[in-house]
Amino acid sequence: MCGIFAYLNYNVHRERRYILELLFNGLRRLEYRGYDSAGISIDSDSVPSADLGRNFPANSMNPLVFRQEGKIDQLVRSVYEEVDETRLDLDQTFSVHTGIAHTRWATHGPPSPRNSHPQSSGEGNEFLVVHNGIVTNYVVLKETLVRHGFKFESETDTEVIPKLAKFVFDKLSEEGGRPTFSQVVLEVMRQLEGAYALIFKSPHYPNELVACKRGSPLLLGLKEFKENSDGGTPFNDVKFLTKTDNPKELFLSSDANALIEHTKQVLVIEDDEVVHLKDGGISILKFDSDNAKATGGLPRPASVQRALSILEMEVEQIKKGNYEHYMQKEIHEQPESLKTTMSGRLIQEGPGKVKGILLGGLKDYLKTIRRSRRIVFIGCGTSYNAALAARPFVEELSGVPVSMEIASDLLDRQGPIYREDTAVFVSQSGETADTLLALDYAKKNGALCVGITNTVGSALARNTHCGIHINAGAEIGVASTKAYTSQIVVMTMLALAVGDDSISSKSRREAIIDNLFDLPNKVREVLQLDDEMKDLAKLLMDEQSLLMFGRGYNYATALEGALKVKEVALMHSEGMLAGEMKHGPLALVDETLPIVVIATRDACFSKQQSVIQQLHARKGRLIVMCTKGDASVVCPGGSCRAIEVPAVEDCLQPVINIIPLQLLAYHLTVLRGFDVDQPRNLAKSVTTQ
Ligand code: G6P
Repeated sequence: MCGIFAYLNYNVHRERRYILELLFNGLRRLEYRGYDSAGISIDSDSVPSADLGRNFPANSMNPLVFRQEGKIDQLVRSVYEEVDETRLDLDQTFSVHTGIAHTRWATHGPPSPRNSHPQSSGEGNEFLVVHNGIVTNYVVLKETLVRHGFKFESETDTEVIPKLAKFVFDKLSEEGGRPTFSQVVLEVMRQLEGAYALIFKSPHYPNELVACKRGSPLLLGLKEFKENSDGGTPFNDVKFLTKTDNPKELFLSSDANALIEHTKQVLVIEDDEVVHLKDGGISILKFDSDNAKATGGLPRPASVQRALSILEMEVEQIKKGNYEHYMQKEIHEQPESLKTTMSGRLIQEGPGKVKGILLGGLKDYLKTIRRSRRIVFIGCGTSYNAALAARPFVEELSGVPVSMEIASDLLDRQGPIYREDTAVFVSQSGETADTLLALDYAKKNGALCVGITNTVGSALARNTHCGIHINAGAEIGVASTKAYTSQIVVMTMLALAVGDDSISSKSRREAIIDNLFDLPNKVREVLQLDDEMKDLAKLLMDEQSLLMFGRGYNYATALEGALKVKEVALMHSEGMLAGEMKHGPLALVDETLPIVVIATRDACFSKQQSVIQQLHARKGRLIVMCTKGDASVVCPGGSCRAIEVPAVEDCLQPVINIIPLQLLAYHLTVLRGFDVDQPRNLAKSVTTQ
């Protein structure tokens, strides 16, 4: 959770107003990562107070810290109010300046200005830190720091970091030489346990920033200009990080969304790297924990040479376009996102001819997967549901038993994972802490680890043995929609690639591949139910509860549909296995409780018909999702409300069936007056356990 962002302009003249707005905008792009409080730090126009009794460099300025509870817009308002009151000069220009920013999803301490970041070392803000992640040994560190006279103001785990930095700085300074900023941070890292991405700012090191990470994601963006002017032509071909005096802007961010409108030239910072931005140069040091422990002294970092990579995304992806909300946009762009997911992967040998599947990231591992004793799908939330939707087909085509694991539960139980297993990790963000910890666990147990993610360069993408990017494009609404359908399609392609291509399965495979080609059209067709779903939402908006029953391929649809309603519309909703209905849930049925039954045509259709009858017999208030033309079959004489959807092959039907439920959840949320894109208490990527 949490988003961190920083901006450094070097030899580029920028007004304070510009810097503020750039930081706010960075936070807006990261807001979906956490949105209960926010903060920034920029330089003031006063020099650090002599009362602190410290020797600050001549060019150092007092940092200003602004922190506010609530969304970014509340922070923006409060900053401008304070700026007005203090008559801070917004027109003041800086040729070099550093600013840091943070948007929070509270873990330690409720949302409040004092628990917001930047967290400070104390009086004079000698060290300021923005943090994404959790420091697990903060209690011990806090006790030690308190013994050394530090006073804590917040309930956060983060506050130990700037205080530790000050402690380290003071100690190293007393021992003689003045440490560099990165030496201070390396020593802080040596003492921190947990997961983190950190950015440090300090008046002891004016115009420098240091960032480091372990576990949580962090990217560096570089925009270098050709002329020594204020925003001349940017170089678009910088490949390596070399120190130049060229004017440049440097950005640090938790993800690419906040970088793309500035630059496409990025560096994905690796675990244990410390990035030091100073005098127009970028140096990267590698923290070596073994070395640090062995010497017991200051870590001796090795300097690292890194090449920049080019972001493969466009600014449009992070904009709402003509839509009111990101979730709405993302639901409606599924025909395109699915097309991109399949692009270059479906091979057609000619019209009506046998086709194949090409999954570049997996081709060297297909044999191993085929020979595995078991395939274990591991994920959380929507990603888990997507894997559940794909499970029957993967079992059918591969012949390998498939088991399902919610990442946190696998870890809680320390469930068995064997060398002969293929563990498939599914995660939109590729940075969900539970999923990544389960990945570590599966790797230690010797399983082949396959990643399925939407995020190139994510920890999941980097740490699995092989994998498939879902290529659904940036998903910004907290509730996952287009990533879900792309994940199912990727896992269907995985099954086709792994499965045998024997004569007996030929026609089934061909039918599915044909359907995959046509799937974007079918999705376009089902999206036409938008108005119908809006009407249904009007009918249901005041309900307290909603049940969804599915089975077979569409058990996952029931779980995912209910999750969407719960997440965004804040309405209690449960997805249930229809086969379990009479073993408990039937007791809930009466004339008032609305129940969605998914009864599209597949091998389970007749069983679902009897479920409908049993519910009717108890006067259940039914909404039945059925195949086009089946309304009169499932709701004879208009006995219930039917949602007719286009038919596709059974294993792809979950892709179609979830869409009306996504639309229903969306409209319910709007009608009930809740925040669609940033639902209460949630965040898009959960980087803490
Ligand atoms: C959070 C999000 C969910 C998401 C889950 C897994 O809980 O709110 O929408 O499904 O994380 O995220 P992942 O990025 O691993 O798919």
